[in-house]
Amino acid sequence: MNNTRLVRALPVALFLCPLLSACSHAQTGVPATATANPPLFNANFDTPTGTQSGDATFSPGISGNALTLNGTGSVELTQSLDTSKSYTVMAWVKVGKVGGFQTYISSDGPKNSAFFLQLRDDTKHFAFTGLPEGDGEANFASGQDDVETGVWYHLAGVYDATKKTMSLYVNGVLQDSVPFTGAYKAPGPVRLGRAKFDGNPVDFASGQLDDTQIFQSALSGAQILAIARPLLGTPGTAPAIVPASLSVDISKVRAQVSPLLYGLMTEEINHAYDGGLYGELLQNRTFQDNAEKTPHWSLVRDGGTGSMSLDSSQPASAALPKSLKLQITDAKNGRVGVSNDGYWGVPIRPQTRYTASFWARVSPDWKGPLTVELESADGKTRYAGATVKVAGTDWKKYTVTLSTGQVAATTDGRFTLSSRGSGTIWLNLVSLFPPTYKNRPNGNRVDLSEKMAAMKPQFLRFPGGNYLEGNTIAERFDWKKTLGPLENRPGHMGPWGYRSTDGMGLLEFLGWCDDLNMEPVLAVYAGYSLRGDHIAPGPELEPFVQDALDEIEFVTGDQSTKWGKVRAQLGHPKPWKLQYVEIGNEDFFDRSGSYDGRFAQFYDAIKAKYPQLQLISTTMDARTRVKSRKPDLIDEHYYADAREMERKATLYDKYDRNGPKIFVGEWAAYTERVPWQDPQQLNAPTPNMAAALGDAAFMTGMERNSDIVKIQCYAPLFVNVNSGGRQWAPNLLGYNNLVSYGAPSYHAQVMFANNLGDVALDSTLNGGRRLNSSVTRDTKSGALFVKVVNPMGYAQSVKMTIGGAKSVSNSGVATVLQSSGPKDTNSLAQPTKIVPVTKPISNVGADFSYEAPPFSISVLKLNAK
Ligand code: AHR
Repeated sequence: MNNTRLVRALPVALFLCPLLSACSHAQTGVPATATANPPLFNANFDTPTGTQSGDATFSPGISGNALTLNGTGSVELTQSLDTSKSYTVMAWVKVGKVGGFQTYISSDGPKNSAFFLQLRDDTKHFAFTGLPEGDGEANFASGQDDVETGVWYHLAGVYDATKKTMSLYVNGVLQDSVPFTGAYKAPGPVRLGRAKFDGNPVDFASGQLDDTQIFQSALSGAQILAIARPLLGTPGTAPAIVPASLSVDISKVRAQVSPLLYGLMTEEINHAYDGGLYGELLQNRTFQDNAEKTPHWSLVRDGGTGSMSLDSSQPASAALPKSLKLQITDAKNGRVGVSNDGYWGVPIRPQTRYTASFWARVSPDWKGPLTVELESADGKTRYAGATVKVAGTDWKKYTVTLSTGQVAATTDGRFTLSSRGSGTIWLNLVSLFPPTYKNRPNGNRVDLSEKMAAMKPQFLRFPGGNYLEGNTIAERFDWKKTLGPLENRPGHMGPWGYRSTDGMGLLEFLGWCDDLNMEPVLAVYAGYSLRGDHIAPGPELEPFVQDALDEIEFVTGDQSTKWGKVRAQLGHPKPWKLQYVEIGNEDFFDRSGSYDGRFAQFYDAIKAKYPQLQLISTTMDARTRVKSRKPDLIDEHYYADAREMERKATLYDKYDRNGPKIFVGEWAAYTERVPWQDPQQLNAPTPNMAAALGDAAFMTGMERNSDIVKIQCYAPLFVNVNSGGRQWAPNLLGYNNLVSYGAPSYHAQVMFANNLGDVALDSTLNGGRRLNSSVTRDTKSGALFVKVVNPMGYAQSVKMTIGGAKSVSNSGVATVLQSSGPKDTNSLAQPTKIVPVTKPISNVGADFSYEAPPFSISVLKLNAK
């Protein structure tokens, strides 16, 4: 059966798992807590039970005989279970094979089984799935661990009709608990070894079932554990969890932590700049977004008459060939004007000074003035306004301040230019800026900048990503066209389906570095674009190599250099420190095999002029790897399912120490659809806690191996969450035009980057389940940073031993990011549902135990000297 298509991902409310040691004591037989509600069905299968069909037989199991199934058999029971009421189904299960949906216990509905205690094909995890007969919402509680064949597991599925939840326990440990509102009374019968879907028998199990019990009540975790406990740990069962230990010796340094380890990667995707970080609030400000129409502009006629059209009769500049022409024929009885609806509305904030500006020229018969207003989307409420006297038939720039008073903040404003006069006015570069971060002109949005600042980023990789390359060579990020006054910037079509204003030009990227004290990691266009065009190495590539040299000079040259002088004239005399230059982006997509030659040409020219620069190659696989030169670094990109990302925590432990260093220039864990296979944009814009746990595990690996992983950055960083605003998910920071929030993964980044130190210590982590850790230290202050990631749905106690220190303080600080379920997440509606909590801790020292909570990322700051 394929019930994935029926199962919607719903928020989970996962109940805290009882610690094994906290649960009721070991008993033999069915414990008193469970006998209080006698089972409807209790079979040890020592003698044949129920009506068998297919290959169902009985052969030795975990205790006496077990129901044995080989992919075609099942057993029908006579007991009837009311699936609209609370119930619990459980069995010892030995998995014969992993692959395909396999159901161990179910109850027939008219068309489908009402529930499935199963092994899923899509997740390869155990699950307890509820499926309504009609159009209700299906859901499943998922196991947390990979399943092994030939091993006995105790599975229990609980439907709680009061709480309306489905919960799954494996070996007496709660795995997941999800809302389920689709329960109904299935006629039955209860079946062992298969399910029913679309009227047909499906999901035949391979393996064995033993000690199967069915209760018409929701058993508690303690009751389930008490039933499972007598056989837990017996030979052939899933191994008991060995308590975790983490030992470290502060005198044993494994790696110097790269000072630039944590940085940022962004590009124009998901309205990251236009409609995101870049302060501009108006969309299509230069009327270049569409050749025939004027999207985001509408004609306002409050009682007057007039018209609006695109006009190319007298361009405002060579870069801006089209303007907006507003003809007012009669405004005696009301205003006539044009309105811009911004990026999903113009945000209105109280007590805020906005800078509005525009270029205009008027017909000789123009009678003004022009009124500039911030108002509600329907034009009925005015938040701020000013009048401007516009004169002259030549283009001129006008600037005016609009101040709001004590208004309520709203996402839903608009910007209007109107007049009660008459005549014709032409408009271009119509702009509205709120105050920007650090008041940098043409600068960045404040809340997003503050959130980035909290990440303590050390570098900014720009301008992409695909955005560097463009779909075609003509649509690459052509940095020289992004310099200087905005009226000289034509903008260009980006690869993510919309035009860029290039308001975020090269100098603005560098200003952003100034804002946050970051070092640029400059990616230069290397002659390959996304649709496959490339420029062959040799003379044709030379102008592009020269462009890269000029760009490096623009960034680093003093005023005696040609491009350093241009930069100074544009208002930034001081050059930037630059260590890393990336040559292209993801050139493993270039099927022509030209990257080796292109890289070599850039490499030789850049190294000849700037020998100190570290050059990054963008191909990582054997087929496309650069062979003719040794790149200083290789840019590796990893977008992986959260569990896969977690496994990558050990990736760099085994890397060649003599090869190029590593730049993990893009990476992110996802939990829903693969980001580039989500055409309908069904993925949530930002990742959930499960993804954050995968991310954090991966980060422990990068920290431990920072001798080779020199720089790394999550991607993408930004997403405008409005419908139509995004092309890719997951992303770290979500926003509309007014407010923003960080995903759990964002908070994990903040926690890691703020607690780093300068050395990674040798540490040994043993035992526990799927724990990951890194231990770093600040050698000057003695601060010791212990990071522990626990992706399991139960707490894990970690015994810590800190050796090699004269003294270890007996108090410290713990910062913990935790959720009640892996699918929990933050959103615009619940921006701070999952945030780190920092608390002092005591009773720490050279030897202590730390209990890592379920689904948690912990950073302990201790002191060891
Ligand atoms: O991060 C999104 C995209 O993923 C980048 O533009 C590209 O480099 C990668 O394929």
